[in-house]
Amino acid sequence: MPTNMRILPILAIISIFLPFAKSINFDVPAVFNFGDSNSDTGELIAAGIESLYPPNGQTYFKVPSGRYCDGRLIIDFLMDAMDLPFLNAYLDSLGLPNFRKGCNFAAAASTILPATATSLSPFSFGVQVSQFIRFKARVLELLAKGRKFEKYVPADDFFKKGLYMFDIGQNDLAGAFYSKSLDQILGSIPSILLEFENGIKKLYDEGARYFWIHNTGPLGCLAQNVAKFGTDPSKLDELGCVSSHNEAAKTFNLQLHALRSKLQGQYPDANVTYVDIYTIKSNLIANYSKYGFEQPIMACCGNGGPPLNYDSRVSCGQTKVVNGTTITAKACTDSNEYINWDGIHYTEAANQYVASQILTGKYSDPPFSDKMPFLLKLRF
Ligand SMILES: *[C@@H]1O[C@H](CO)[C@@H](O)[C@H](O)[C@H]1NC(C)=O
Ligand SMILES: *[C@@H]1O[C@H](CO)[C@@H](O)[C@H](O)[C@H]1NC(C)=O
Ligand SMILES: *[C@@H]1O[C@H](CO)[C@@H](O)[C@H](O)[C@H]1NC(C)=O
Repeated sequence: MPTNMRILPILAIISIFLPFAKSINFDVPAVFNFGDSNSDTGELIAAGIESLYPPNGQTYFKVPSGRYCDGRLIIDFLMDAMDLPFLNAYLDSLGLPNFRKGCNFAAAASTILPATATSLSPFSFGVQVSQFIRFKARVLELLAKGRKFEKYVPADDFFKKGLYMFDIGQNDLAGAFYSKSLDQILGSIPSILLEFENGIKKLYDEGARYFWIHNTGPLGCLAQNVAKFGTDPSKLDELGCVSSHNEAAKTFNLQLHALRSKLQGQYPDANVTYVDIYTIKSNLIANYSKYGFEQPIMACCGNGGPPLNYDSRVSCGQTKVVNGTTITAKACTDSNEYINWDGIHYTEAANQYVASQILTGKYSDPPFSDKMPFLLKLRF
C-alpha cells in the first residue's frame, strides 16, 4: 500500500477533531535541533566522517541526502507540519545554506556522554551545545553588521521564541551493550542524564525557553541489535526484540521523563515537552500490519535475506569482497512495506507514521490535543 494512502485516513481523522488554527503559542519561528542519526539531516556526512551511498535517499530526495534513510526523517515531517523548511545541518556549507528558520546540530552516531577515541562521531551532546553557542554568537555578530545577513540567519528574538528539539541517548545505550552488562548500563543512566541536563541548562542560560524532548525508541527491535545480541532466542521478547536493550531504553525513558518534571519545576518560565517515541514505535512494531506494513523488524536495505536481512560487514549501499565473495547491501523492492530501512534506522514510511502519531498530541507530556500546536496540512 502506498504511504500516502496509509497516512491519509489518520490525518483526516485528526483534522475532524482538531482545530485548523495554529495556536499562537506554538507559532515557532525557528527550530534548533540536537541529536543523533534519528534527526541528522546531513551533519556527519558534511563533516566528512562517513559517506552514504544510494539507495539511501531514493524515496524522496532521489540522491543520498545526508540522512540515514530512504527518505524523510521524523524531524522533516515535523518541520513540514510547522510550516517550516527542512533544517540545514550546521556544518553543511555548500549549496545554498539557509539558517533563517533554524539549524540542525544533530549528527549520526552521537552520544550524550562525551565522545571517546573510538567514537564514530566527535559531536556528542556537549559539543553540539557548544556549536549552538558559537552559532548564536556568530549570528548576533553578523546581524550587528547590517541587514544583508537577515535573510540567512535567525532574527535575534528567534533564539528565545524558537523550539529546541532533542532526540539523543540511543547510542549511549546501544553502544554500551558491546562492553557492559545490563546492570552496569542501568547504573550509568543517571550520569548520562546529568550530562544531558547540563546541556539543557546551558541552552536555558542562552535564552532557550521551549524545549521538546523525544525519548528513546525500542532499540532491542533494531535488526542490528537482534543480529548481534539476539542469537539465543531466550534473549528475545514476544515481538522478537532483544529484551535487555528494551529494558535499558525504558529505564532511560523513565528517568528522562522525571528530568522533564524537574526542569519544568526549575524553570517556570520555560515549557518543557516530553514525547513518548518509545510507545509510538513499539505499538507500530507490534501492530505493524494494522498500519499497512509487512515487515516489522527485517531491514529493507541489507544483505543476507530473512529473517533480518542484516549483515554488519556491509552497510546499506555498500559492496565488499569478503573471503573472496562479493556481498552487497541493497534495497528491497518496496520500502513502504518495511519499518526498518538499514537495520538501524527507520524507513521514511515508518517515520511518517511516527510523526503523525506525535502530532496527535496524545504521546506527549504535557499532552497538546486540546491546543494543537502544529498546523496539520492535508497535502498527501
Ligand atoms: C507554557 O506554559 C505555560 C504554563 O503552563 C502556558 O500558559 C503557556 O501557554 C505555555 N506556552 C506554550 C508556548 O506552550
Ligand atoms: C497493539 O494494538 C493493541 C490493540 O489496539 C493494543 O492493545 C496494544 O497495546 C498494541 N501493542 C503495543 C505494543 O502497543
Ligand atoms: C572468512 O572465512 C573464515 C573461514 O570460514 C571465517 O572464519 C571468517 O570469519 C570469514 N571472514 C569474514 C569477514 O566473514
